[in-house]
Amino acid sequence: MAASAAADDIADQLAFTSLPPDTQFRPFHLRQYGWFWLLEELLMAVPAIHSVFMPRPSDVLLASFPKCGTTWLKALAFATLNRAEHPPLLKYLEMAFGQPMGDSGADGVFAALPSPRVLATHLPCSLLPRRMTAEESGCRIVYICRDPKDAFVSSWFFAKKGAAAIARTLARADEDTDMQQQPPPPYTFEQWRSQEIRMRRAEGGQGPCWSPWLRHCIQGGVRAVLRWHMRQRPAVAPRAGLLGDEQEAAGEGALPPVRGDAPGPVSNVKKLAEFMGCAFSAEEEAAGVVQAIVELCSFRSLKNMEVNKSGSQGPAAHESFFRKGVVGDWSNHMTPTMAERLDKIVEDALQGSGFSF
Ligand code: A3P
Repeated sequence: MAASAAADDIADQLAFTSLPPDTQFRPFHLRQYGWFWLLEELLMAVPAIHSVFMPRPSDVLLASFPKCGTTWLKALAFATLNRAEHPPLLKYLEMAFGQPMGDSGADGVFAALPSPRVLATHLPCSLLPRRMTAEESGCRIVYICRDPKDAFVSSWFFAKKGAAAIARTLARADEDTDMQQQPPPPYTFEQWRSQEIRMRRAEGGQGPCWSPWLRHCIQGGVRAVLRWHMRQRPAVAPRAGLLGDEQEAAGEGALPPVRGDAPGPVSNVKKLAEFMGCAFSAEEEAAGVVQAIVELCSFRSLKNMEVNKSGSQGPAAHESFFRKGVVGDWSNHMTPTMAERLDKIVEDALQGSGFSF
């Protein structure tokens, strides 16, 4: 079945046509569901995940808004759980389940994986089945946050590079023939900025895929950690962790920042291991296993792996997930006024939460 026909079929089945469509971000076909603007192809995964995916209490779910360091976290978590093995780029739940006709065998693939499984998602936590997020029965969720200004700049570069390939693959034969030949979306930084700022306000309105970012972040990470903090859950049995920029404000037991250029990664990976239930032994620490994992998963190491130079994750080339990998690159692309404006939006949205970036 042609991609467009299959998509129409699914759209009819799931009554997507009743959801508000986006008109501004072609060639992406986005619809708004539960606040979030999602690619129709990925939106199809949501009912499939709800109906067939069976989480295990031992599962570790790595959740994030795109461009916040997911690839790095995936590598660290997988390498930690599997110690000496090489970190592959793990499949996202929604990509596996977002196939025409629902589960498309994805559940069988996941069911065959031995525990503990490391899974990844960009889906906002509010769109995941309750059996995954409920504290008593769900899996451990690690939500990674990043300075929004750096994530913003990163997403702009990705839109110009990686997203173009995705756009070409998803382009529908019946209406986007020209798109398949075209270069990346012709956004200027200014155009991107105005769209991004609007979507980051979490006020609704149309926005790029996965937006609004603030709502994603607040639901996915900050709230989980704050709720956990308020209930004073013991650090030994957390169900939600956060890798972000503010350990203190994020609450008891929250994970401290993991940054490529800071001395933090070793202690952060130790916390991550504890959180995932596979703490490093004293012997392992003495043997330098933690440092080895940090080194294995460093930007340079991952970027230079053959699989990341030539492989692809669906339509997106692995290499498009490795750009600069530094903190503060926003200052090379944003004026101080733009940065202040974005900071203010974020600050306002988080007011009273006790969390800040
Ligand atoms: P930049 O574009 O700022 O370089 P995601 O994996 O969520 O898509 O995020 C991609 C961002 O993480 C990119 O940021 C990428 O370069 C950076 N990144 C990928 N691997 C990394 C690593 N091992 N260490 C530090 N940053 C990394």
